[in-house]
Amino acid sequence: MRRSSCSSSTLFFAVTLLTLSVVVSSQLTANFYSTTCPNLLQIVRREVQRAIMTEMRMAASLLRLHFHDCFVNGCDASILLDGSDGEKFAAPNLNSARGFEVIDSIKSAVESQCSGVVSCADILALVARDSVLLSGGISWRVPLGRRDGLVANQTGANVALPAPFDALNTIIAKFAAVGLNSTDVVSLSGGHTIGQARCATFSNRLFNFSNGAPDSTLESSMLADLQNLCPQNSDGNKTTAFDRNSTDLFDNHYFQNLINNKGLLSSDQILYSSNESNSTTRSLVESYSTNQKLFFSDFANSMIKMGNISPLTGSSGEIRRNCRAINT
Ligand code: HEM
Ligand SMILES: *[C@@H]1O[C@H](CO)[C@@H](O)[C@H](O)[C@H]1NC(C)=O
Ligand SMILES: *[C@@H]1O[C@H](CO)[C@@H](O)[C@H](O)[C@H]1NC(C)=O
Ligand SMILES: *[C@@H]1O[C@H](CO)[C@@H](O)[C@H](O)[C@H]1NC(C)=O
Ligand SMILES: *[C@@H]1O[C@H](CO)[C@@H](O)[C@H](O)[C@H]1NC(C)=O
Ligand SMILES: *[C@@H]1O[C@H](CO)[C@@H](O)[C@H](O)[C@H]1NC(C)=O
Ligand SMILES: *[C@@H]1O[C@H](CO)[C@@H](O)[C@H](O)[C@H]1NC(C)=O
Ligand SMILES: *[C@@H]1O[C@H](CO)[C@@H](O)[C@H](O)[C@H]1NC(C)=O
Repeated sequence: MRRSSCSSSTLFFAVTLLTLSVVVSSQLTANFYSTTCPNLLQIVRREVQRAIMTEMRMAASLLRLHFHDCFVNGCDASILLDGSDGEKFAAPNLNSARGFEVIDSIKSAVESQCSGVVSCADILALVARDSVLLSGGISWRVPLGRRDGLVANQTGANVALPAPFDALNTIIAKFAAVGLNSTDVVSLSGGHTIGQARCATFSNRLFNFSNGAPDSTLESSMLADLQNLCPQNSDGNKTTAFDRNSTDLFDNHYFQNLINNKGLLSSDQILYSSNESNSTTRSLVESYSTNQKLFFSDFANSMIKMGNISPLTGSSGEIRRNCRAINT
């Protein structure tokens, strides 16, 4: 009896040590692949450059993929899994998320030099950084060592991802649910300085937003433009730029636009216009609108925080061979 309780406490001690060492090794590090795939960063940079030369908007689409990956079951490339129960069919992604073919070709380029070593989740994180940098934005060292998940979570994507119709408190709560605060909400929303949105995501503001009138926090000439682009009862698939001033340039115009009531989505404009929350969002919008350096450094910090959401490390998950399917 005594012996067995002694050995079980020894076992407990050993398991505790093992767990600790797993926790320690689970930290992501920028040099994770420096010996196993020394050219990784150059390969990804070159492939993102190639994709952007074909279509500049792709930088925005690729940045968004990392965000939509990380908010659902952590940054585990779950968004890339094909299949009818996949996240691609969740409301925030359907007819919207794009860039999957580009990720496929980057993965192939990486596999051809370092087979079976680099996760799809890490590729998404590097691609997001390069998309921002190659659009004129800031760079940062990307922590690496994530592994790929074994399941997609369509319900999770519907629940966890913020919607353009959400109230500010709801958006802040969805960020808080993954460990991000209201500073992260504002800095990361600055990702909307590049890319486009479909009429379906903002047409609720244009005609009968409240009491039969358009959203009063949408500037009148931009309102007229958007009403023209997205007439009532029209197909919601037409797109327009978030930042009408410098569509493809990663800069702080997004925040200047908000101050001029030229935010595209309701979820953009409320960061500045909402009176529903005693959060820091309004004053941060003001700061970023006049201080691009501050926006860039906060954005980089927030991207690193977002990239750290529940990564799979150690022996959890796997290194997918094909980003669209788990290994068989
Ligand atoms: C704060 C909550 C957010 C909401 C409600 C939101 C919502 C949206 C919506 C509705 C679209 C347009 C989708 C379409 O029409 O198909 C969009 C596009 C985009 N989002 Fe967000 N988003 C949010 C945060 C973020 C974050 C944190 C990032 C990245 C840091 C981001 C990056 C982008 C980019 C780059 C695009 C353009 C994609 C393209 O042109 O293909 N968004 N977002
Ligand atoms: C799916 O995502 C939701 C919301 O993030 C989470 O609560 C749930 O545990 C996830 N389910 C699985 C099976 O991972
Ligand atoms: C959000 O978190 C960052 C650290 O990650 C911190 O510097 C910042 O002050 C926080 N913002 C708020 C509003 O708490
Ligand atoms: C606006 O929408 C509300 C409810 O959604 C409806 O009751 C009202 O009749 C609409 N007003 C106009 C002018 O269409
Ligand atoms: C948008 O286009 C897709 C196909 O690309 C279609 O299935 C969908 O119904 C369209 N949405 C709207 C609102 O027309
Ligand atoms: C466009 O950007 C310039 C700075 O390059 C700024 O002066 C101007 O106010 C911006 N216009 C709008 C509509 O945001
Ligand atoms: C917030 O603004 C709305 C109008 O947009 C107004 O009706 C409401 O009273 C305001 N609430 C507060 C707490 O100031
Ligand atoms: C905002 O203020 C209200 C009272 O005005 C308070 O109940 C709430 O806790 C505050 N929220 C935050 C995030 O500080």
